[in-house]
Amino acid sequence: MSRGKFITFEGGEGVGKTTNVAFVESYLQARNIPLVVTREPGGTPLAEKLRTLLLNKKSEAISEEAELLLMFAARAQHIKHVIEPALARGDWVICDRFTDATYAYQGGGRNMKISTIEGLETLVQSNLRPDLTLLLDAPVKIGMERVGKRGAFDRFESETALFFEDVRRAYLLQAEINPQRIKLIKANQPLADVQQAIINVLSPLLR
Ligand code: TMP
Repeated sequence: MSRGKFITFEGGEGVGKTTNVAFVESYLQARNIPLVVTREPGGTPLAEKLRTLLLNKKSEAISEEAELLLMFAARAQHIKHVIEPALARGDWVICDRFTDATYAYQGGGRNMKISTIEGLETLVQSNLRPDLTLLLDAPVKIGMERVGKRGAFDRFESETALFFEDVRRAYLLQAEINPQRIKLIKANQPLADVQQAIINVLSPLLR
């Protein structure tokens, strides 16, 4: 049994990750690929509890350091109990956000040192990296308009446009540094075009 592929979705708020994760899920299912669809922060009972704490707007002020460590604590549980076992048994894993989100939000948004994030990445992930990352990118204003229509904002969605500009810049930098792994998908085009672009970068993995 060969190891499964690890695919992550990334992007700022309101870029259409949920819709496109569901699209890839049905695309792969139609090709009889066994898969697990999951998300970060989250994916195990403990990691989902950490997610609730991290997204809750009414919690006490969370320090940048605590936020970073909680993200990696959730990730450690997720890798050990969900991601690694799935890949080892040959399932593909589709994950809504992973460590590029930490580089973007805690690195770009919160200005945490990249070398600190790299250290935690090594500690928690060892050699585990996604085989493919789909970075959905759209201007911040467009994403925030979509989020605005969804209702109450969570702790991250309540950040300023400036914060999200920094997040976007950090994501684009990640894509520049890792061109083999991270494929940039323009999210502000008709959905059919977004999905065709996704198929184009996904199909080499299916061969
Ligand atoms: P979402 O999955 O609904 O977009 O919500 C998750 C939020 O958590 C999102 O605002 C981005 C944020 N986040 C980080 O700040 N760092 C991380 O490492 C991850 C995985 C998510």
